[in-house]
Amino acid sequence: MGISHAYNYIIAGSDLRVKPFFGVRIWMLLKLPAELEEFAMEKSKVAVRYFSKSGNTKKLADEIARMVGCKAEQIPAPVDGNIDILFLGASVYWGGISSEVKAYIQTLDKSRIGKVVIFSTSALAERAFPQIKKKLLDKGIPVESKNFYCRGEFTALHKGRPNQDDLKAARKFAAEITERK
Ligand SMILES: Cc1cc2nc3c(=O)[nH]c(=O)nc-3n(C[C@H](O)[C@H](O)[C@H](O)COP(=O)(O)O)c2cc1C
Repeated sequence: MGISHAYNYIIAGSDLRVKPFFGVRIWMLLKLPAELEEFAMEKSKVAVRYFSKSGNTKKLADEIARMVGCKAEQIPAPVDGNIDILFLGASVYWGGISSEVKAYIQTLDKSRIGKVVIFSTSALAERAFPQIKKKLLDKGIPVESKNFYCRGEFTALHKGRPNQDDLKAARKFAAEITERK
């Protein structure tokens, strides 16, 4: 069925004999791709989950959630139903991700998650991304190759981080990820 026929069908219900005027059909042709795109975007489901001991990763989670239009929830809040994109946030304690994050990954159902997008904070090294990525891939869950990372305040280090610039960058990252899915 061609696009214009599809539109005839949409307009006329099941009655394919109804033919709109030529001008109307052109207008429909121009509008169809945008409407289909909107329909596809509406169907995509995005969730944000994080683990944060001192609130740094939570700041990113809340910002990303605001950007993508959902509520960030602390692990171990489960994800409901099928999720196209799960933003998963964590940080590094004594060189590794926390046992809570490891345990949470084990609860994820690969048949219900399109892909996971990782974001993280730490004081020194960006260790969370490779560790979380490996655990997810071991479970057969796809991982977005791009991740978001910024420094997080720790004792006298990185006061105020994530700061407004970090949050702005996190918003931009979330928008880019969700727009090209
Ligand atoms: C107990 C503890 C251990 C930490 N160990 C590390 C570490 O090994 N490497 C590092 O880069 N940062 C380390 N940090 C700093 C945290 O990763 C950083 O402050 C992070 O932003 C904390 O995130 P959160 O506030 O979401 O828990 C440690 C922080 C704490 C509280």
